[in-house]
Amino acid sequence: MKALIAAGGHATRLRPITWTRNKHLIPLANRPMLAHVIDKVIDAGITEIFVNVNPGEGDSMRGALGDGSDKGVRIVYIEQKGGARGIAHAVANAEEYLKGDSFIFFLGDNILLGGIRHMREKFEREHLDCLIALARVKDPQRFGVPELDGDGRVVRMFEKPANPPSPFAVTGIYFFSPEYFEAFKTAKPSARGEYEIMDVINWYIEYRKVGSQEITGWWKDTGTPDALIEGNALIMDDMPRETYCIQCTPHEEAQIQGPVSIAEGTTINADCMIRGPVTIGKNCQIESSYIGPYTSIGDEVKIKDTEVEHSIVLNGAVIDTTRRIVNSLIGVNAQLVDCRRSHPKTGHRLVIGDNSFVEL
Ligand code: G1P
Repeated sequence: MKALIAAGGHATRLRPITWTRNKHLIPLANRPMLAHVIDKVIDAGITEIFVNVNPGEGDSMRGALGDGSDKGVRIVYIEQKGGARGIAHAVANAEEYLKGDSFIFFLGDNILLGGIRHMREKFEREHLDCLIALARVKDPQRFGVPELDGDGRVVRMFEKPANPPSPFAVTGIYFFSPEYFEAFKTAKPSARGEYEIMDVINWYIEYRKVGSQEITGWWKDTGTPDALIEGNALIMDDMPRETYCIQCTPHEEAQIQGPVSIAEGTTINADCMIRGPVTIGKNCQIESSYIGPYTSIGDEVKIKDTEVEHSIVLNGAVIDTTRRIVNSLIGVNAQLVDCRRSHPKTGHRLVIGDNSFVEL
């Protein structure tokens, strides 16, 4: 069995962060989102992994995530051809790499608690041709939704239906037999001009054996800043305590509580409190600040006289304000400074990019 991970797209709901980087490289717990997905696929015993990326992004994605050799697997980056025409088309684009084998198709912005090994085992044990992972959600109309019969068997799939036939979302984790490419040939572009994976699954329901597996722990599609910040928190909650480690020497009077990771070269002065779960990258300066639970801070970040909680702060950012920053996503090299250090002292001076969001 092989795996294909989808890591293309433009993630418009995450602008401005995604003006300058592919969303799948946004760090969660200080590792690119896609690295967490690759871990799950490797844990399911897959050694041949293909990653579908936007045209021109192959080298940067390979640079950030590697070729898998350090983990004993092969990771190949495939640049999308023929434009963005839906996720079913992205799979078809990888036919020459996948044909002849069953494969896992994993949308790279999906994160979940636990692994997917049990799904692979079910797919193989029950000789399924297609397996979909389902999660109970409050808003199924935002997702692909299955219609189930009285025995819980999937009888039809709908993409973002106005009246969902069940409370389940089809998550972005699918297992397919090699017949995917035969099924794809029968699909036509939908009203939104995309080849829908639901049409391919409906082919499998009609002609082959389809099963489903409910994800009972948390599952998230990290498409919005709020979902990303929550995903960051869920991943930190899920990290075993022994993976947290402090590789620098905080001032002995600094208060460090709970699971906290701090990389080398970071300085933490006496007047700081860090209450985990928290991850802090390399060469940061944390001074007279409180860093609260579920905060991830990248490399080379400066935080002074500030309280930060339940937030993601990317590399090179400077936060030097006496405010409390919560539920925030702070981009690379962004600066948040105190208005009282310049005139007029009560005014807010903003240089913010397109699609930014500021709550004053
Ligand atoms: C895609 C699929 C949808 C699925 C979702 C899971 O939607 O089309 O069926 O439920 O991923 O993340 P999108 O996120 O592209 O709107």
